[in-house]
Amino acid sequence: MNDVPRDIQGNPVRVGLPMAMLAELTHRCPLACPYCSNPVELARVQTELTAAEWGDAFRQAADMGVLQVHLSGGEPASRRDLTEIATAAHDAGLYVNLITSGIGLTQARLQELDGVVDHVQLSLQGIDAEMADWISGYGGSFARKMQVAEWVRQIGFPMTLNAVVHRQNLDRLPEMIDLAERLGCRRIEVATVQFHGWADLNRRPLMPTLAQAQRAREVVNDARKRLRGVMVIDYVPADHHAAFPKACMGGWASTGLNIAPDGVVLPCHAAQTIKGLQFQNLRDAPLADIWRDGPAFNAFRGTAWLPEPCATCDRREVDFGGCRCQAMAMAGDPTATDPVCSRSSFNARLRAEAEADAASDDIALVYRRMAKERRI
Ligand code: SF4
Ligand code: FES
Repeated sequence: MNDVPRDIQGNPVRVGLPMAMLAELTHRCPLACPYCSNPVELARVQTELTAAEWGDAFRQAADMGVLQVHLSGGEPASRRDLTEIATAAHDAGLYVNLITSGIGLTQARLQELDGVVDHVQLSLQGIDAEMADWISGYGGSFARKMQVAEWVRQIGFPMTLNAVVHRQNLDRLPEMIDLAERLGCRRIEVATVQFHGWADLNRRPLMPTLAQAQRAREVVNDARKRLRGVMVIDYVPADHHAAFPKACMGGWASTGLNIAPDGVVLPCHAAQTIKGLQFQNLRDAPLADIWRDGPAFNAFRGTAWLPEPCATCDRREVDFGGCRCQAMAMAGDPTATDPVCSRSSFNARLRAEAEADAASDDIALVYRRMAKERRI
């Protein structure tokens, strides 16, 4: 253990308080979305943390200053002990957000979660059964999701619709916004697919065109005016359609952490794609020690380690050089400036590749599957 936490270059780093934790309860999921943010190598059920281990993790997190937990997956409802796990998070004093496809939730299970879960975030793959069932790789998913949305509304959970958009469904954004309004959502998050992991295997069918992205921004701006005070609309365009990257995770290991189904503690959901980083498991060390001293957490903390052009850029405290996992995926170097930044030397190539992918008429999807079942 270091006395003073240091980044990959040996610079001392300041360790802040984590505020939010993503708890990936399982990688199991009935859906097979081709842009799933889970790793390409999925954790097996035998390795999953038990409900008691999750309860311990939530208490440790609350003691460290974490305020909110996002129960995610895979599909969290694939855990039969979801109510026990959510109750442990609630009892630890955390604000509990359930991120779900809805599949596996029944009216009775939702009623058990009433008073335990503070907010439900429901994913949307398409505006009708034809699109949603094709994208999710699961027949009947749309009808079941709409039923779950109705139960969520009846019970009175605040609800966000999480619409993941790409070339195949972005033109139907106005209908997605209308649906969110009809379902009584307080918020719709329109997030363009991030092209890592599974989505990277589906670049050609999913990459949106620039014209679609521009039109989507107009649709969002018009809808924001119309729905002011009724529903909030968040819009996240494709990274390469913006001039500068986002501050991924609000800055590496600054305010958030993730726990994978098997207890591995991560600075972000995709951190295991970065070769050479050392990760620790909740089963082997206290969460506070991992947060403060974990080599993976300290590697990219702060801005002292940043390369040029970030090192002298006036946006370095705004976006912290962008996303490390994207730099790894696209530049082959996690210490590089995020290639989606217009100041990156990789940016022109990246944009050209994205345009070529967006012009493809390939619609064959590689669905997310456990390794044995995968269709590639
Ligand atoms: Fe952000 Fe670096 Fe690009 Fe500046 S050069 S905008 S700090 S990624
Ligand atoms: Fe890992 Fe952005 S997803 S730093």
